[in-house]
Amino acid sequence: MSNELRFDGRVAIITGAGGGLGRAYALLLAARGASVVVNDLGGGMHGEGAGTSAADRVVEEITAAGGEAVASYDSVEHGERIVQAALDAFGRVDIVVNNAGILRDTSFHKMSEEDWEKIYRVHLYGGFRVTHAAWPHLRDQGYGRVIMTSSAAGLYGNFGQANYGAAKLGLLGMANSLAVEGQKRNVLVNAIAPLAGSRLTETILPPEMVAALKPEYVAPLVAFLCHDSNTATGQVFEVGAGWAARVRWQRARGAFLPLGAGVTPEAIAGQWADVQNFDDPTYPETPMDSFAPVVENLKTAAAAQPPSAASKVTAEPAAAPARPAATGGPLDAVGFEFAPTTTSYDEGDLSLYALSIGAATDPLDASELQFVYELSRDGFKALPTYAVTFPFSLLWQITGVPGLRFNPALLLHGEQYLELRRPLPVKATVTNTARIANIYDKGSGALVLLDVDTADEQGQVIARNQVSLFIRGIGGFGGERGPSSAGVALPDRAPDAVHREKTNENQALLYRLSSGDRNPLHADPAFAAAGGFNRPILHGLCTFGFAGRAVLRHFAGNDPARLGSIRARFTRHVFPGETIVTEMWAVGSDVLFQCKVAERDEVVLSNGAVALV
Ligand code: NAI
Repeated sequence: MSNELRFDGRVAIITGAGGGLGRAYALLLAARGASVVVNDLGGGMHGEGAGTSAADRVVEEITAAGGEAVASYDSVEHGERIVQAALDAFGRVDIVVNNAGILRDTSFHKMSEEDWEKIYRVHLYGGFRVTHAAWPHLRDQGYGRVIMTSSAAGLYGNFGQANYGAAKLGLLGMANSLAVEGQKRNVLVNAIAPLAGSRLTETILPPEMVAALKPEYVAPLVAFLCHDSNTATGQVFEVGAGWAARVRWQRARGAFLPLGAGVTPEAIAGQWADVQNFDDPTYPETPMDSFAPVVENLKTAAAAQPPSAASKVTAEPAAAPARPAATGGPLDAVGFEFAPTTTSYDEGDLSLYALSIGAATDPLDASELQFVYELSRDGFKALPTYAVTFPFSLLWQITGVPGLRFNPALLLHGEQYLELRRPLPVKATVTNTARIANIYDKGSGALVLLDVDTADEQGQVIARNQVSLFIRGIGGFGGERGPSSAGVALPDRAPDAVHREKTNENQALLYRLSSGDRNPLHADPAFAAAGGFNRPILHGLCTFGFAGRAVLRHFAGNDPARLGSIRARFTRHVFPGETIVTEMWAVGSDVLFQCKVAERDEVVLSNGAVALV
């Protein structure tokens, strides 16, 4: 046959070739021109005893048919001797089929250390020893074909085979890594999970199955994988009775939890269906593939600073919504109420917050001591923007809202509105309740307006936050587009006041402690790099706090009670250490503002408005 796959000049080591599958491989390769080392310890199926006849018989069969073969009686645990036998007899080695095997099946509670150890030594350790001894030769000559023999028991698990399954999947793990290491030098490593009648299966399968499942039906795939023409590597195939199929990992799309406080057991429970949903699977083949969704989640968290949303630039919150009719989609989430949370704070928390948004950096200026020093002459007071931290305790629940199925990695914080119903107490235990006020369909995504009310111990609402979240990728559900996102026109004159403040290099590290927003994007350089930033960035709400302080200082005599509400849109990131320039215009009782980064002359907060009272 002209297109016959030949092995002339190739030297193959086949372990456990004295019977069963190994014998079939040896006979086939030898018939196709390979010189074969027929290795077999010649013991029993449970690893007991040893003998030479098994290997000898197969060598005789091969030579009788005109082929070339030598016997090797060593255990695979002495792999170097088997490889040496190949070198002694044929001067080289090209192919290694790790096939030797035994069984010591027993349920795990009865499994002895010896049962475990023997299986490990023959299968996994033996596979290592033989391959390890052959490896330098394969590498150096720039050619090699290696087969590991795995098993369905390893791929899928099987009663009574914890020892065997572990070793068999271990061989697959070894093959996967060796495939990566060997590829450049044309050393290809694959694995098979065979099914064949042999002495290992004759006690499990009915006799007619044992007879039908001929080892000769498995051998052709092994031969093909060992041939020069094969290019596959790092693959595993199930094979038996003339059927051969590659097996690969399939991975569910998975659940993406918002980083920071959102990664909780409850969030996992809430997204359990997504964790297991194979509707839109991926098939990772490399660790890089494996990490892809992880990196995606990191990147999206890192990018969660840009603008998004519609906003009226006044100090008013978005209009109270009418609940739309149920659609089975995101609109059904409108009106959804989050589980309330209760949190406490005191002067220490408020002081840390004030410091983290740049208060009291000048020791000769006592005007902001009231926010950081409990014995301040003016009396200790809370900075009103501390109230933007309240929603953090319940924000993670957004991932479990019925009707709102989305990848939390695609969620951006677009805008923040904060209204103070009365000055914040300097110490309180507060209860936060939240509901989805409205959802707008922006085409490219959905704009979710989340209202969070914070009440004191008497149940009086002291602060309301409206958090605008833009969720990319879930638009087009037929909802209202909502208000235009055009920003407010700032007065056509130079700002009435400009406040410049250089942030500290560790500003974000401080802010994360005071705010409860522990997103590593603001602390970990590697994490920030994954998101495309060359270093950690400042929290948008930290800049928001700087702006609030600037307005209080320039237009309210630093009296926190005068800040009725404040809103702004997050447009760009700030790096810690950069200078925030807040430009402010008085318009009636409102102060409009925007923040820029001086070093890059970029607007980082836009549509800013404070309503003074
Ligand atoms: P088999 O028992 O006929 O062949 C295994 C051979 O390995 C025997 O000749 C035995 O003497 C030899 N051997 C055992 N320990 C050795 C050692 N320490 N050093 C050198 N040789 C040793 O069994 P079979 O079915 O042909 O198995 C071949 C391989 O296929 C084994 O690794 C087995 O675990 C695997 N396998 C077989 C399946 C099947 O359906 N037959 C299913 C899944 C995996």
